[in-house]
Amino acid sequence: MTLLQIDHLRVQFTNRLGTFTPLNDVSLTLHAGEILGIVGESGAGKSLTGLSVMGLLDPPLKMTGGKIFFKQKRIDQYSENEFRTIRGKSIGAIFQDPLTSLNPLFTVGEQLVETIQTHFPLEYKIAREKALNLLKDVGIPAPQERLDQYPHQFSGGMRQRVVIALALASEPDLILADEPTTALDVCVQAQIISLLKDICRSRKTAVMLITHDMGVIAQICDRVAVMYAGRVVEIAKVDTILNSPKHPYTQALIASIPDLQAPSGEKYRLTQIKGNMPRLNELIQGCPFKPRCDYATNQCTHLPMATYFEDHHEVHCWLTSSK
Ligand SMILES: Nc1ncnc2c1ncn2[C@@H]1O[C@H](COP(=O)(O)OP(=O)(O)OP(=O)(O)O)[C@@H](O)[C@H]1O
Ligand SMILES: [Mg+2]
Repeated sequence: MTLLQIDHLRVQFTNRLGTFTPLNDVSLTLHAGEILGIVGESGAGKSLTGLSVMGLLDPPLKMTGGKIFFKQKRIDQYSENEFRTIRGKSIGAIFQDPLTSLNPLFTVGEQLVETIQTHFPLEYKIAREKALNLLKDVGIPAPQERLDQYPHQFSGGMRQRVVIALALASEPDLILADEPTTALDVCVQAQIISLLKDICRSRKTAVMLITHDMGVIAQICDRVAVMYAGRVVEIAKVDTILNSPKHPYTQALIASIPDLQAPSGEKYRLTQIKGNMPRLNELIQGCPFKPRCDYATNQCTHLPMATYFEDHHEVHCWLTSSK
């Protein structure tokens, strides 16, 4: 079942220098219980895609085109009050810095109990029991004592576990996780990603996981959408993206993953993608990857149509286009 559907989303803003389009014609679907990765380099539009879904675009950013459906209901035209009925309830969020989601003045238990009681008509004792179970589920040792501690008493990794517990407290259908482990060290990062995967799989909670890290994508996702300069350039199952990417940008991203299997003593070879992503004020005719693409031809001054391969593998590139 389709849980979230983004159709031709366009986000723009205008300032004294002109009108800019950080998201252009983004279309994505997320199925119930699915873990979809959104990957791409800094500025590609990953976070704005997530913020659009949650109705959290700050002015002057504005959705100027497209539609967003959540559980078959069109939500992009919701008022702030209507968005509040789904945000933090059917759609939970986890951001990079756990401290933005936690209130330093209240204990972790108080925050969990409050969230639980906001969404379910439970008396304090039962809500606290539920909070305790959530802390257990996210792997916090000695949860009984931890419940009465403040966020600053937790390490970064433990704090992010608490944020996951908070996001799960309302029993959402979808969790939007924007770089949830980027601030953590690599070892803790792997633990948190694996926890997120296990817990969302067992609860059948869908996840939209935003990251610039292909390693994280490989560890957890079912499908991946690759974004470049405000557009989706390729979407496919994670294995397909990792093993047979078709878009030259995806191919370059995959080639830039450090080879962890490199024989000891040999330096990791990290291929950089030459050049930079176009800035918002650079107008590029046609495919935005053209200036960095080894395969660019005259055709690329026009935007390619999407081409579809087996298993809903979608590619936006003239190389694979039949037209
Ligand atoms: N409030 C804003 N006002 C103007 N431009 C913005 C605003 N927020 C984001 N942008 C621009 O929109 C583009 C997409 O931003 P977005 O934050 O979605 O990128 P991202 O893919 O999440 O990057 P990162 O990996 O660095 O988080 C960028 O060029 C960014 O500078
Ligand atoms: Mg971002």
